[in-house]
Amino acid sequence: MLVLGIESTCDEASAAVVQDGTRILSNVIASQTDLHKNFGGVFPEMASRRHVEILLPVIDQAMQQAGCNFQDLALIAVAQKPGLMGSLLVGLNTAKSLSFAWNIPYVGVNHVQAHLYAAMMPSPPVFPAIGLVVSGGHTLLCTMQDILDCKIIGSTLDDAIGEAFDKTASVLNLPYPGGPEIEKLALNGNINAFTINPPKPLKNPFDFTFSGLKTKILYFAKGNNANRNSPLTIDEPEKKHLAAAFQHAAFKQVIDKTLLACQKTGYKNLYTGGGVTNSKTLKNMFAESMPPEISFYYPSSGLSLDNGAMIAGLGYHVYQKKHGSDPYDLEALPTGNQFVFS
Ligand code: KG4
Ligand code: ZN
Repeated sequence: MLVLGIESTCDEASAAVVQDGTRILSNVIASQTDLHKNFGGVFPEMASRRHVEILLPVIDQAMQQAGCNFQDLALIAVAQKPGLMGSLLVGLNTAKSLSFAWNIPYVGVNHVQAHLYAAMMPSPPVFPAIGLVVSGGHTLLCTMQDILDCKIIGSTLDDAIGEAFDKTASVLNLPYPGGPEIEKLALNGNINAFTINPPKPLKNPFDFTFSGLKTKILYFAKGNNANRNSPLTIDEPEKKHLAAAFQHAAFKQVIDKTLLACQKTGYKNLYTGGGVTNSKTLKNMFAESMPPEISFYYPSSGLSLDNGAMIAGLGYHVYQKKHGSDPYDLEALPTGNQFVFS
C-alpha cells in the first residue's frame, strides 16, 4: 500500500511516498531556513506563502523519485495538527484537493505523534514504551501502549526545548536554526565554566521548564538584567563555554525526566523524536546515562527534522484504524488538541 505523506506544519515543505508504513521510497524536504534566517525564527506568514509556491513541485518530485504516479497511491496522509495555522492550511487543502481530484482517500495525522513514529520505521515497535518528543515547537513525555495509543504524562510549561536553543543562539549572535549552531560551538566548550543549577522541582515531575535557563544564559552573556538587544559582554572562548553549559543543562533536564518516567512505569522501551534528536550530543548523553535494560530508539538520519515520510508512515496506521477517509470539512488545528493523540 503506497501512501503519499504531506508535511507543512511549520517552515519545511515535505512530501514522501512510503510503502506499508515503513519502506521509504522518497522523502523530499524543501527547507525555508534561508527565508527566515534574518528574523531569528520562523516568520509565519512568509512560511505559508512559500508553501503555496513550493508544495506541489515538492509532491511532484517525491512521486517521480518513488517512480509512481497517482494511480499507484492508495492513500494521502497530511499533517493536520498542531502547527502554524497558515502553514497547516496549505498542506491540508492540498491533500483534500488531491484526494478529490484523484479519487483517493486521505487522513489527517498528528505531527507530534508522527515524530515518535519516525523512530519506529526501521523495525516493528515494541510496547509498552515511553515516548519523548523534543522539537522546535514541542517537548513532552508520554506513555505508549501502541502506535496510536499514547497518553501525555508531562510537557513543557513554557518554551519548547528547540525554541530555547533557537532563542539562546540568537542571544549569542548565532544564526537560525540555533540547535546545530550551539552544538557546533559547544564542541570545545567547558560545561563547568558557568554554574547552572537544575530547575526547581515542578508539581508534576514529568513537566519541563526552559525559560529560567534561557534567562540565566542571557544574563551570563550580556550582564544581569540585560535584554536580548543588549550587547554581549563575554569573549569568544566564554561564548563556547556558555553554549556548552546551556546545552548540557537543557539535555540533562530532558534525560533526568525521561529516565524517571522509565523508572516509575517500569517500561523498558524508549522512543524519541523531533528535530532536537538530530543532536549527536543528546544521543551520546542518553547513551552514557541509560541503564542497560532500557532499549533506546531514535529516528534515523533525515527523519528527526520535519519530514513527509513520518506523516505517510503514521497515516498508514491511522487509516487502518479508521477504515476510511477523513471528511472534507476536517479542520486544521494549530494548538490545543496536540495532546489528544488520535
Ligand atoms: O522537529 P522540528 O524540525 O520542528 C518542529 O516540529 O518544531 O525541530 C526543529 C528544532 C529547531 O528548534 C532546531 O534548533 C532544533 O530542532 N535542532 C537542534 C539540533 N538540530 C535541530 N537542537 C539541538 N541540537 C541540534 N543538533
Ligand atoms: Zn516537528
